[in-house]
Amino acid sequence: MPYGGRWREYKRAFNQLFNQTTVREYRPQLVKAARYLVKRLYNKPQDFAHHIRYSFGSSILSVVYGIQVAEEDDNYIATVEHALEGAEQGFRPGAFLVDFIPALKYVPEWVPGAEFQRKAAGWKKDAEAMKDVPWQNIVKDGDHTPVAMKLSELLSNVDASDFGEDGDEMSRNICAIAYAGGADTTVGAVHCFFLAMAIYPEVQRRAQQELTTVVGPNRMPEFSDWDSLPYISALCKESMRWQPTLPLSVAHRSLEDDEYRGYFIPAGSILIQNTWAILHDPEKYPDPERFNPERFLKDGRLDPGVKDVRAAFGAGRRICPGRYFSDMSLFITVASILHTFDISPPLDSESRPRKIEPAMGSGSMSHPLPFECSVKPRSKLAEAVALGDYSTEQR
Ligand code: HEM
Repeated sequence: MPYGGRWREYKRAFNQLFNQTTVREYRPQLVKAARYLVKRLYNKPQDFAHHIRYSFGSSILSVVYGIQVAEEDDNYIATVEHALEGAEQGFRPGAFLVDFIPALKYVPEWVPGAEFQRKAAGWKKDAEAMKDVPWQNIVKDGDHTPVAMKLSELLSNVDASDFGEDGDEMSRNICAIAYAGGADTTVGAVHCFFLAMAIYPEVQRRAQQELTTVVGPNRMPEFSDWDSLPYISALCKESMRWQPTLPLSVAHRSLEDDEYRGYFIPAGSILIQNTWAILHDPEKYPDPERFNPERFLKDGRLDPGVKDVRAAFGAGRRICPGRYFSDMSLFITVASILHTFDISPPLDSESRPRKIEPAMGSGSMSHPLPFECSVKPRSKLAEAVALGDYSTEQR
């Protein structure tokens, strides 16, 4: 989508709703989602990949619409995920003949071979449901005013009709984009964390030692512990760096002629940020293929001298507006899981740990290829959270 008019207003709203200060208001929702994730992992550890996705869905639906999802098989999550599956298929380059013969988009959908037309009509319906179904069920959740309720005020000075939309339509779009923008990316980062823990047991042990020392065995981690958990913070950064979910970010187009370090960039050029290369630069991150949170630490604290992993979120004015939300979400998820579970490779027929390779899918969105791992409770706390003996509310 070009940066201008309507999109500039969307981005302005995003920046107000998800900036570094505002996101702090969403902490209770994230704590709650992390506790439910512990519960689901305890009950069905083998379904960890499904739980990660479900957990992201539950936190974003509660932050954006105030909706509390069902513990399993929630209808809102199903509606939204169904729509995203369609979008994913439609955006996959080369998936349809129309990618190679653009004129096919003018062919009526009943013509044999016009599969894209038929599917596109279905996806459009799903996308409308994704925007409408949660929107029609916005609820104020205790002290939390959902993002959807704040939008009408935020957009009150925008004449949406300039963009061929009404104010409601803009708000509905912004809410749906929050889910879509964060879904695969945040889920991918948590997935990479699971993969790393199954491959690097010594990293996991260090992180758990820190949690035991700082948080102790009788309670769950909170956001107030964050500053006292530098190893966990470093581990989250390393999860973003090691296998970035958007290795080539999102393509940008230059609007005017420009110059960068002596290179002339004509207007209309497509520019691709090589995030993978930036985050695997051996000068900035020695031995870059190794998952090593220590690289971000010096004397037991985060080392400000190490290049930050912000590049994972893009750059310039299009930089990801969900980055602070995502940092918070990753921290509380990682801390809660490592405090309650051990993640390890599955055993082979002779009870030896199977070797797991860090294999990633190709494509613009890169997730770990499916892998198995064992997720076992490491303390009574996991059981207490799962049985509801430990509050799922923030303490
Ligand atoms: C690990 C988590 C995430 C990663 C790695 C990530 C990464 C990115 C990247 C690389 C871009 C493109 C930036 C550019 O064009 O330079 C982007 C854009 C965007 N992200 Fe994220 N993102 C994450 C989480 C989120 C979340 C949680 C949200 C919503 C709450 C979100 C909403 C968006 C939106 C709306 C855009 C489009 C911005 C624009 O085009 O101006 N993202 N993200």
